[in-house]
Amino acid sequence: MIQRNNNSAKVKISPSLLSADFALLGQEVKLITEAGADYIHLDIMDGHFVPNLTFGPDIVKSIRPYSNLPFDVHLMTENVDENIKNFAQAGADIITIHAESVTHLDRSLNLIRSLGKKAGIALVPSTHENCLDHILGLLDLVLVMSVNPGFCGQKFIHSQLNKIKSIATKIAGKNIELSVDGGVNEATAHLAIEAGANVLVSGSYIFQDGPDSYSHKISQLQK
Ligand code: DX5
Ligand code: ZN
Repeated sequence: MIQRNNNSAKVKISPSLLSADFALLGQEVKLITEAGADYIHLDIMDGHFVPNLTFGPDIVKSIRPYSNLPFDVHLMTENVDENIKNFAQAGADIITIHAESVTHLDRSLNLIRSLGKKAGIALVPSTHENCLDHILGLLDLVLVMSVNPGFCGQKFIHSQLNKIKSIATKIAGKNIELSVDGGVNEATAHLAIEAGANVLVSGSYIFQDGPDSYSHKISQLQK
């Protein structure tokens, strides 16, 4: 069951494979699972919604056997409904779509749920959190982007902390996770947690020094 959003709940860590060694992806998934991750974050980019290309459903399917953790799929694409179906079939557990890339959000969130997956909504830094008001009942997760989507290794945008606080208030008492994604490291993790986030997505900070430090990095973020 998804934990309620409050600061006493355990913080979950969702390492972003965008910063992993792509030549060893299955092995990276296995190592990061053994290091204590809670979710595996997969950044799906199509070169249209964002200026970068990453994993297709066949890659997700091929790494699925390397971990029992939930696959936290972050869709930064156009053709959202088609991609929802493909990534659900490939082994996604949580599918997060962007408010900015979908015309009929209610319909797409219902599609995710109809496929038996958890539904998330992501907001880029310039999107106001009021867009959540009429879809709260369809959500399992809200992802606040603390960088502009497309690349790992960018700086945390501090103005997003107020957005996290405001969303934490909106979802109080509901079974919805609050995730923050982009520029999360030792210096910024505690700010996001204090603002109300309970899932930290982190790429470059966790992966940059190689497998020997994965477990240490994850525990640093949990503190
Ligand atoms: C950015 C992605 C993030 C990113 C996180 O578009 O959604 O998941 O890879 O990487 P860091 O932690 O390096 O910002
Ligand atoms: Zn992401």
